[in-house]
Amino acid sequence: MKDLLESLQPGDPDLNLAQAIDPQRLPAHIAIIMDGNGRWANRRNLPRVAGHSAGVGPVRSTVETCARMGLKVLTLYAFSVENWKRPRSEVETLWRLLRFYLKKELPELQKNGIRLKAIGRVEALPPQVRAELESVIESTAKNRGLLVNLAINYGGRSEIVDAVNHIIETARREGRLDSLCVDEAAFAAGLYTAGAPDPDLLIRTSGEMRISNFLLWQIAYSELYVTETLWPDFNRRELLKAILDYQKRDRRYGGLSNGAYNGARKHREAQLVEAVVTSQ
Ligand code: FPP
Repeated sequence: MKDLLESLQPGDPDLNLAQAIDPQRLPAHIAIIMDGNGRWANRRNLPRVAGHSAGVGPVRSTVETCARMGLKVLTLYAFSVENWKRPRSEVETLWRLLRFYLKKELPELQKNGIRLKAIGRVEALPPQVRAELESVIESTAKNRGLLVNLAINYGGRSEIVDAVNHIIETARREGRLDSLCVDEAAFAAGLYTAGAPDPDLLIRTSGEMRISNFLLWQIAYSELYVTETLWPDFNRRELLKAILDYQKRDRRYGGLSNGAYNGARKHREAQLVEAVVTSQ
């Protein structure tokens, strides 16, 4: 967080927001469904691909801000397994933009110790895109700062299916298929995101109230934040607002909030329980 605060000049309108964030309660992992590129372009009478092109800047600034805040993981939904249904020209533009981003961003990633990883069925990507992606992944593999997961040809259900097959295949190879018994930890270790904490905060732009097959297992207890802002307009201010909103949430994980069951409240609760039970 210190890095971000130091990078903001006095008078910068984002400074107050950044100062209001509690550095002790930052989300470790933010996941984002970047949506609304097409609508952004439509509203300007531009082709849809202009919206995707305008979406590259927010990717860059979001990665930079998360790195400066000292977050551990940022996962960006860049291309779903369903996105192949779009016109070929749109899909090809998305690959071009990804290649452009990777080439232009590599020095910045290195400078800031950012590690890039792809999650999804990347083996199905066009060979050139895959090679360039793998090269950046390899070059940044030893970085120890922010981990950026790019979800590419990603689907939550296909990830679960891939995890199941991976677990079965590993057990078969190791000759322990007959006694295979999987618990939650073993299952999570088979996912593309193995080793990373689950997202604390899931942001979706453009106002749609859907999960769209994103990180189905991992978002079990994520806090959701939906903004009407379209992805090409998503900036540092929007990100800081989402984090501030997240910090107001009471995360109970199915339990009770701290202090909800202490002292006088505990005593009163016991009396009420007694009354309810004896009235049956
Ligand atoms: C959803 O908007 C967005 C996508 C399917 C692609 C996301 C791509 C980018 C942000 C640009 C490049 C990314 C990287 C990682 C360099 P939509 O087209 O579904 O918008 P709509 O719902 O308004 O039509």
